[in-house]
Amino acid sequence: MTKFPHSARLMQRGTAFLGCETAILCGAMSWVSERHLVSAISNAGGFGVIACGAMTPELLDAEIAATRALTGKPFGVNLITMHPLLFDLIAVCGRHGVGHVVLAGGIPPKGSVEAIAAIGAKVICFAPTLALAKKLLRSGADALVIEGMEAGGHIGPVATSVLAQEILPELAEEHLVFVAGGIGKGQAMASYLEMGAAGVQLGTRFACATESIAHPEFKKAFFRASARDAVASVQVDPRLPVIPVRALKNKGTEEFTAKQIEVAARLDRGEVGMEEAQLQIEQYWAGALRRAVIDGDVEGGSLMAGQSVGMVKAEEPVADIIAQLMAECEEALERR
Ligand SMILES: Cc1cc2nc3c(=O)[nH]c(=O)nc-3n(C[C@H](O)[C@H](O)[C@H](O)COP(=O)(O)O)c2cc1C
Repeated sequence: MTKFPHSARLMQRGTAFLGCETAILCGAMSWVSERHLVSAISNAGGFGVIACGAMTPELLDAEIAATRALTGKPFGVNLITMHPLLFDLIAVCGRHGVGHVVLAGGIPPKGSVEAIAAIGAKVICFAPTLALAKKLLRSGADALVIEGMEAGGHIGPVATSVLAQEILPELAEEHLVFVAGGIGKGQAMASYLEMGAAGVQLGTRFACATESIAHPEFKKAFFRASARDAVASVQVDPRLPVIPVRALKNKGTEEFTAKQIEVAARLDRGEVGMEEAQLQIEQYWAGALRRAVIDGDVEGGSLMAGQSVGMVKAEEPVADIIAQLMAECEEALERR
């Protein structure tokens, strides 16, 4: 994008790696990041990523084919590491010649990074700490995303600004690191790019784009919300490690607390093991998110959203959001 020379220069490594015009990834969002939003992002010069979530290989196959029909530009696929058919899903990506696979939800299981390399795709991993970032790069990750706790969805405990300071100065010169979590405006993109990031990943800002299939009620809840409404879930039982989720406060948030108490009691009574207990919690989230995104149940469903939700004011086409982010980023860099 020659219209934005300063940004283009700082994004150059990221755009070369992703094969798109701007190093802005739209992070995969379960139920939201399907063919329409993903193709719109890629068509607008960003990098769309399909959220595979709990899809079967057959469903993923159909989703990739449908996305391809809507865009000739590159896009990626986000796979959850604990999916029981992870290797089959990687094979599906291989059959479609998907260029980039993002592994989310924990440390990649043995052989998965190699399997993705073997289908000729680039591997992008989430790095929660500097030590793990180094380990993932040694194990073959081609690029990293560092995501702070301001983000929507499942989150780690550390803020984006702190992760960026810990990881970018150490790794960003030699490796590709994308920064995610809490980015709502181009000014923030500019500062992470200046710190060495190859690009950025946003979710919340794109969730309510015109092309997003999210229910109108889901979108309205985002437009009304401010940063302080996007709260992290609390863990109620120290024995039941639950990955916190950031979502808009509603009845569903309270129900989740009750769900944890119920699952912890079943764990106590020996009715379920730890793994099954954690799986039940994860399934609860997936179902609740579907109810909010697809059915528009904004009371009982999960309105996963990051703190940047306060900067989402109205439904806008993806191309306008990207153009605005780029203009803000360029203006900030120009002023330096
Ligand atoms: C509604 C919603 C659903 C999400 N689902 C997923 C997911 O299925 N897999 C994943 O890796 N990240 C998921 N995320 C995280 C995003 O991919 C992205 O990294 C995050 O939204 C970036 O931070 P931001 O929300 O502050 O922009 C989700 C985020 C939101 C808001």
